[in-house]
Amino acid sequence: MQLANKVALITGAGSGIAKAAAILFAKEGAKVAALGRTKDELEAAVAEINQANGEAIAVIADISKVEDMQQATQEVINKWGRLDIVFANAGINGVWAPIDELEPEEWDKTIEVNLKGTFLTVKYTVPYLKKQGGSIIITSSINGTRTFSKSGATAYGCSKAAQVAFAKMTALELAKHKIRVNVICPGAIDTNISENTQERNLEKAQEPVVFPEGKIPLTDGEPGSSEQVAQLVLFLASDASNLITGTEVWIDGGESLLKG
Ligand SMILES: NC(=O)c1ccc[n+]([C@@H]2O[C@H](COP(=O)([O-])OP(=O)(O)OC[C@H]3O[C@@H](n4cnc5c(N)ncnc54)[C@H](O)[C@@H]3O)[C@@H](O)[C@H]2O)c1
Repeated sequence: MQLANKVALITGAGSGIAKAAAILFAKEGAKVAALGRTKDELEAAVAEINQANGEAIAVIADISKVEDMQQATQEVINKWGRLDIVFANAGINGVWAPIDELEPEEWDKTIEVNLKGTFLTVKYTVPYLKKQGGSIIITSSINGTRTFSKSGATAYGCSKAAQVAFAKMTALELAKHKIRVNVICPGAIDTNISENTQERNLEKAQEPVVFPEGKIPLTDGEPGSSEQVAQLVLFLASDASNLITGTEVWIDGGESLLKG
């Protein structure tokens, strides 16, 4: 049990990477607060954990809203009285469009959820992590950190680049409190995220480069799974990584080395 007696808050836990992490964390002994906007999805994830003899609660909140995140943190503390691990993962692809066609409110929305949402998640939970130390893991992306060829996804790429800076700034600030902050940068992972992407006129923005096959060298082109990413998140959450902070880890089968 790598996370015995730990309490973890996981954002975006109704689907994808965070749902896989929630299930894995619970198997490893953590009590899991599964946070997200979509009640049905969260309740299904929590039921799955509880049926497997894990311990989890659903916390309904929008990470970009101040009151929601204050209240969500309080719910976790009221339930378990402590917090050790924060997986700040929830995010959106948002609108991908040529830069002169991207509306200011579309830009704002992506930054609000991905960057301000990360800030609020950390801001309101960190006072509790300070009590005994802990681990924060932030989900960035290969986009904006090692890959810059997804033209049109500028707001997304900028939000993901800023999350890496955020992790490094806070890693140093919080080290004296024995809080580690690391950031994961996934490549293509098989989740729901692309279903929620709004794409507009991307042919005007993108260079006509096509990878007919093999764009992920380690897997012959197959996307990674949420379960593979969850194993990395578990490592960063657990004491097995207790000297690692302020570090980004790319998890992409070599995709970003090829595409750049
Ligand atoms: N899937 C990929 O290929 C990939 C690649 C790189 C990075 N990422 C990042 O991984 C993270 C998780 O995405 P995923 O792929 O698991 O997709 P997903 O869409 O399955 O999961 C994202 C979850 O976040 C939730 N969410 C979105 N906005 C929210 C908000 N404002 N408040 C609370 N919850 C909110 C969604 O409801 C959803 O449950 C994101 O930050 C994404 O940018 C994904």
